[in-house]
Amino acid sequence: MNTITAAITAVGAYVPEFVLSNQVLETMIDTNDEWITTRTGIKERRILKEKGAGTSFLAIKAAQNLIEKSGIDPKEIDLVLLATATPDMPVASTGVFVATQIGAVNAFAYDLQAACSSFLYGMSTAAAYIQSGRYKKVLLIGADKMSSIIDYTDRATCIIFGDGAGAVLFEPNHEGLGVQDEILRSDGIGREYLKIDAGGSILPASKETVENGLHTVFQDGKTVFKYAVSGMADVSEKIMQRNNLTHDDVNWLIAHQANKRIIDATADRMGLDENKVLVNIHRYGNTTSGTLPLLLSDYEDKLKKGDNLIFASFGGGFTWGSIYLKWAYDKQR
Ligand code: COA
Repeated sequence: MNTITAAITAVGAYVPEFVLSNQVLETMIDTNDEWITTRTGIKERRILKEKGAGTSFLAIKAAQNLIEKSGIDPKEIDLVLLATATPDMPVASTGVFVATQIGAVNAFAYDLQAACSSFLYGMSTAAAYIQSGRYKKVLLIGADKMSSIIDYTDRATCIIFGDGAGAVLFEPNHEGLGVQDEILRSDGIGREYLKIDAGGSILPASKETVENGLHTVFQDGKTVFKYAVSGMADVSEKIMQRNNLTHDDVNWLIAHQANKRIIDATADRMGLDENKVLVNIHRYGNTTSGTLPLLLSDYEDKLKKGDNLIFASFGGGFTWGSIYLKWAYDKQR
């Protein structure tokens, strides 16, 4: 086959050591393990505690893990894409710093932001660079230090999010493996329902914005939940239909880990058994850009060459979508 497809050829991940359990949250806010577990599926999440360490810390660790596992020479990487909603700082690209730190000295780099769909959109971007024949090695990292933008007195949000990162390498494939199809969507109606009001160009940081707590995430959970359920299920079902895939043909659903009930609703619509649904929300909560590659890393042993994977995500904005990918390797390469 002469056509170039974009395959994932290596995976890496990193989560911080500190575990914030539901039991500890019970001592911080008015909540309980039973409520959190039944409403979200989350039992614990990881928090980056190192002083002065930002999202780049997580991203570098995940990329280094990939480099060690795969044995690739970082000097061969052409592009480092950092999917994140929590860059180290508003100006000075975090991805550039990460690329330099991991020794990707011949790469160019930039950040990509689409809230919880950042990584999924990044897969599309990475694949396009590979399919066009322009680049041979694109490192896509998804990393977020969500704890840096969460108010730990707000029980509506602080139970949900955690810190973490994952990385994948995209390379050309000539056997038809890798990305097969994508459906990416967005709708600005979502802006009011999941946002941080201050610190941007509309409302720059000031004494008042700090005093009014406007630098942390606000979420209208019920509304976001409604849109997320229909959005993720719609695109996942559509991508199956468009590619003539039955539930038997799909080996794995790799869905954004925001709420177990949203993942279940998507799997139901696709007609998938629960043993085909990758889940780690109980361990990490919602790590935003980290969730999809963390799933790949946790389940890498189970993925077989030729397996049909459906990725799905939903995030602030709103942003959402689905990607159909054929897995390209068995773990022992
Ligand atoms: N512990 C205990 N009770 C809580 C609570 C908590 N942490 N948070 C909210 N509650 C209470 C509410 O005050 C409310 O009480 P009331 O009925 O007396 O008013 C009740 O529980 C129900 O709250 P509600 O917000 O309606 O719960 P929910 O079932 O919608 O679950 C979320 C809340 C946030 C878990 C859920 O809406 C959700 O997952 N939303 C989508 C998140 C998402 O997908 N984001 C995607 C972008 S990444």
